[in-house]
Amino acid sequence: MSGLSLVVPAAPYLDGYVAALRQGWSPNTLRDVSGEYLAAIAADPDAFLRGLTQPGGTISLGDGRVVPRLPGLVRWLWDGDFCGTVSLRYVPGTEELPSYVEGHIGYAVVPWKRRLGYATQALREILPHAADAGLRHVDLTCDDDNRPSQKVIEANGGTLVSRAPDDLRPGKEKLLFRIILAP
Ligand SMILES: CC(C)(COP(=O)(O)OP(=O)(O)OC[C@H]1O[C@@H](n2cnc3c(N)ncnc32)[C@H](O)[C@@H]1OP(=O)(O)O)[C@@H](O)C(=O)NCCC(=O)NCCS
Repeated sequence: MSGLSLVVPAAPYLDGYVAALRQGWSPNTLRDVSGEYLAAIAADPDAFLRGLTQPGGTISLGDGRVVPRLPGLVRWLWDGDFCGTVSLRYVPGTEELPSYVEGHIGYAVVPWKRRLGYATQALREILPHAADAGLRHVDLTCDDDNRPSQKVIEANGGTLVSRAPDDLRPGKEKLLFRIILAP
């Protein structure tokens, strides 16, 4: 049993989050948002936290588009120190997602807290929130060469649904996994 908890992003944990960003860790696995987030926290830490915890608002995509933030939640992984993030997003009433969203759930663990089972636990603990939101399944995408993430998904009952060429990584594939939550 690890001492890991999923916590709502809040001021007491912010120093650890900032320290991780300063070391170049990015909670967004598609692009490095560490500098952008550090600037936002420096400008207004409370507004930054509200942006993570309150519904509504917008998010900026890597291609410059600004899109509405989907309903969902963000939790930080905490074992006495900041360890990473896990997030859920969904469209109410459907398992479908807009094309700009890669999957219902994303997670990232800081490099110095990896291989402790934290991502596996975080995904396990976020799944009931997805079920509570009415989702009958969640889809997760993952790079073909990201074996650790594939193991995290498989350990939580995920199965491979499809694989497709990855536009961002020529010659590589994106894998789509599904975890069934309800029949
Ligand atoms: C993928 C990631 C979240 C895994 O986090 P983690 O907390 O280390 O994962 P866990 O400790 O739960 O490990 C899950 C499995 O992967 C294995 N694993 C973890 N890191 C590994 C590595 N570098 N090499 C080989 N296996 C590894 C673990 O041994 C474990 O396997 P087991 O169940 O057979 O013991 C983490 O490596 C990470 O943040 N990577 C960058 C962001 C990312 O890829 N996010 C997912 C996008 S789809």
